[in-house]
Amino acid sequence: MNTEPQVTEAELVHRIWTELQRATVDRHHEWRTPVLATTGLDGLPQARTVVLRTADATASQLSFFTDCRSPKVAELRATPTAAFVFWSHRLNWQLRLRVGTQVHVDGSLVDAAWARVSPSTAASDYRAPQAPGSTLHALADPQPGTHHLAVVTARIEHIDWLELAREGHRRARLTQNTLAWLVP
Ligand SMILES: Cc1cc2nc3c(=O)[nH]c(=O)nc-3n(C[C@H](O)[C@H](O)[C@H](O)COP(=O)(O)O)c2cc1C
Repeated sequence: MNTEPQVTEAELVHRIWTELQRATVDRHHEWRTPVLATTGLDGLPQARTVVLRTADATASQLSFFTDCRSPKVAELRATPTAAFVFWSHRLNWQLRLRVGTQVHVDGSLVDAAWARVSPSTAASDYRAPQAPGSTLHALADPQPGTHHLAVVTARIEHIDWLELAREGHRRARLTQNTLAWLVP
C-alpha cells in the first residue's frame, strides 16, 4: 500500500467530478451506467443499473431518469438514502457513494428532462400504459400526450474511492470537506 498518497484532496475530488461529468455526455464511459442500491419495501436490498444523467460538482449532486411508477421510486420515497456503485476498468477506480435522494415528478427539472427524452426512442418507455415490473398483459400502444418520467436527484453524503494498482491499492473516504486515507 502507498503510505504517502501522491494526490491531494482537492486533486482527487476534481478528478472524480471530471470523470462523473464526462460519463453524462460520453456514451462509452464506464461510469455512465452505475448500479443504484436501495432498500426494498420489504427491508431487503435491491439493486439495478441506471444511466447517469447529470453530475453537478458544486451541488454535489447526481441525477437519473426513471418511470415514476417503477418500484425503485416507491422504495426511494420510503427510504431516501441509497447507494451508487461505479467501476471503471480504464481508471481502475471504484466509487461507492452514499446519497440522499429526492424524486421529482413535475416541475422544471422534469420538463427539461422530458424535452431531452421526448425526441428519442426512449420516450415510448415513459409512455407505456403499464407500470415497469407489472405482469405483461396485452401489448398496448404508448399513450400519446402523457408520460411517467421522473427525475431522481441524489445528493452525495460521502464517497468511498478505491484505486487498484499493481504498486499498491489506495482508498479514501471523502465527505464535503474532509479526506481520510483508509486501508484498502
Ligand atoms: C444499461 C442499463 C441502463 C438502465 N438505465 C435505466 C435508467 O436510467 N432508469 C431506469 O429507471 N431504469 C434503467 N434501467 C433498467 C433498470 O436496471 C431496472 O431494470 C428497471 O428500472 C426496474 O427497476 P426497479 O424494478 O428496481 O424499479 C437500465 C438497465 C440497463 C441494463
